[in-house]
Amino acid sequence: MNHFFIIEHLEKEMYEWCLIEYKHISQAVGKKNLWFTNIPKKDRKKLAKYGSVFTESVTSMHLKNACVLDPEANKLLSPRDKSRFQYFILGGILGDDPPQKRTGPELSRFLPEAVKRHIGDRQMSTDNAVYTAQQILRGKAFRKLAFIDTAEVTINKVESILLPYRYNLVHGKSYISPKLIHYLKKKESF
Ligand SMILES: C[S@@+](CC[C@H](N)C(=O)[O-])C[C@H]1O[C@@H](n2cnc3c(N)ncnc32)[C@H](O)[C@@H]1O
Repeated sequence: MNHFFIIEHLEKEMYEWCLIEYKHISQAVGKKNLWFTNIPKKDRKKLAKYGSVFTESVTSMHLKNACVLDPEANKLLSPRDKSRFQYFILGGILGDDPPQKRTGPELSRFLPEAVKRHIGDRQMSTDNAVYTAQQILRGKAFRKLAFIDTAEVTINKVESILLPYRYNLVHGKSYISPKLIHYLKKKESF
């Protein structure tokens, strides 16, 4: 079964941080397998090169065989879910510390027919959540995946910032878009 990842954008604006994550997701799953929903008309162009763009919310699409990735779900996503679901829906929500638990009230609540799955008890960025789900759907059990629970980004010789979210470790390196590191360095140096 061909899988589609759907990012329901739930931030008030299309922040640069969101765009960086969305591009990173597209690089991981491919443009053909990625949908962005709930996108204001003025932002459609910014995303068109990364996936299919819809102004409509996924909550009004009534998709069959859909799974919402929700940190509050009772069941862990497993490789067996590969043949059960065609659509994997995630919140286009930036991380917050402490986690505000927005996925339930802003997304899952409006998708009563969709099945909910979690991918561990820690908050991941949307791009890392997609990457984790992709690994599981490719057959890797969750317990076999490697993570770090806080990433440190070096800004210059004396400063660094901590990102208190869970990141995948890929070949020993945290799975963070180089564009995000560049963005944070630029932001912190002003
Ligand atoms: C940065 S998280 C949002 C977390 C946020 N604290 C909240 O309010 O729910 C962005 C999206 O990634 C997915 N996600 C992140 N961590 C997850 C987890 N542990 N289990 C399931 N989904 C997760 C969810 O779809 C979530 O909406």
